Amino acid sequence: MSLTNLTDLADLTRVFVDPTAYADEERFHAACRVLRRENPVVRVESEQYRPFWAITRHADVLEVERDNEHFLNAPRPLLVPSEMEARAAASGQVLRTLIHMDEPDHKAFRGITSKWFLPGQIRALEERIRERAVRYIDRMADLGGACDFAQEVAVGFPLHVILSILGLPEEDFPRMLQLTADLFGSDDDEINRSGDAQQQRMAAMLDFFQYFVALTADRRANPTDDLASVIANATINGELLNDYDAASYYVIIATAGHDTTSSSIAGGLEALLRHPDQLARLRDDPSLGTSAVDEMIRWVTPVKEFMRTATEDRTVGGQLIPAGDSVYLAYLSANRDETVFEDPFRFDVARADNKQVAFGYGVHFCLGAHLARLELRVFFEELLKRVDDIQLAGEPSRSATVFVGGLKHLPISYRMR
Ligand code: HEM
Repeated sequence: MSLTNLTDLADLTRVFVDPTAYADEERFHAACRVLRRENPVVRVESEQYRPFWAITRHADVLEVERDNEHFLNAPRPLLVPSEMEARAAASGQVLRTLIHMDEPDHKAFRGITSKWFLPGQIRALEERIRERAVRYIDRMADLGGACDFAQEVAVGFPLHVILSILGLPEEDFPRMLQLTADLFGSDDDEINRSGDAQQQRMAAMLDFFQYFVALTADRRANPTDDLASVIANATINGELLNDYDAASYYVIIATAGHDTTSSSIAGGLEALLRHPDQLARLRDDPSLGTSAVDEMIRWVTPVKEFMRTATEDRTVGGQLIPAGDSVYLAYLSANRDETVFEDPFRFDVARADNKQVAFGYGVHFCLGAHLARLELRVFFEELLKRVDDIQLAGEPSRSATVFVGGLKHLPISYRMR
């Protein structure tokens, strides 16, 4: 049965286009709970964005992602304000990354690094990752028993991991951090530096681009064993990537690889602190590390959406999606679907058979999923070995975003062993 009151429906669907709604999860989840039940595939209209259909049920998200022949990433992989889409169309796209591509290009480009991110390869990085985690936990000790965990620990650790895997020098890390915040966080007033979010995104992309063009030239001249060298020296149909494609590749790895993971680490810790029984359980039984990590990632779901566009009329969840219309994959809603997760609003570090879709599904399934899981597992292993009496020391706050985000501030206090 559909909701008949269109005013109510417009109110409910506003959560998808209002960046502040993602910072108020109770409001977001309350709306999605009704939509999953009453209008699981719902048209969303707003001033800022071109209309789209929000897909809120787990099964429907999987169905769209599985059907990558009829639901394409191009030309609208993400929710971007229509004004910015128009500007990009007029001036040409700034980047073309894996998330902008469909087959056959996507497969060829993904193949360049897919072996690098396989579980066996990633496991070999465990000691390097552990050493970085320990560095950040030492820093917590230096901070003397209280810190803003989101800003002082969670942001830096995954950034160090991904940039060191890429092979960038440490002195460039702060610049990368700022650029990622500009790209992903610019719907948030506190994070937004210039006040004009769209201009800021464009400036960040150009800055990234220039940096990575220089990196490509360097790794071609002096190849090393880092990931940047793999990308710089890869060939497709016998040709090296052009500067634009190579730079786009680094950008997707550098940006996708840390904001997502840092949000999961901070949100995972918040969940443990709000559920002390679960914290005690994980501490007593470190073998729960793997299931705890997937539960943290489900709980946080740092990537709020990706989009697809229908190549022809398709029906999803009983709703016709006309050719050319776009669908919004509501990962946060799918990860609370009560038909898939038993008691979905319970945080359970031992949740069995966790079908969370925070990494997406199908051919675009997150390239860095094994790396992200390893970073979280190792980080929490080291953290729980070292801290006692860890607790919230103030109200956490979340970033306003329509794409990637989570905790902006997480004040905590603790005692180190
Ligand atoms: C908890 C952390 C992370 C989450 C929740 C996450 C989530 C996602 C999601 C939802 C997608 C889109 C999947 C789809 O369209 O079906 C994606 C794609 C991607 N992710 Fe992640 N990600 C995380 C960490 C990472 C890391 C550490 C890397 C490092 C390399 C990474 C690299 C990528 C890339 C390159 C893509 C594009 C893949 C493609 O289009 O083929 N991600 N991620």
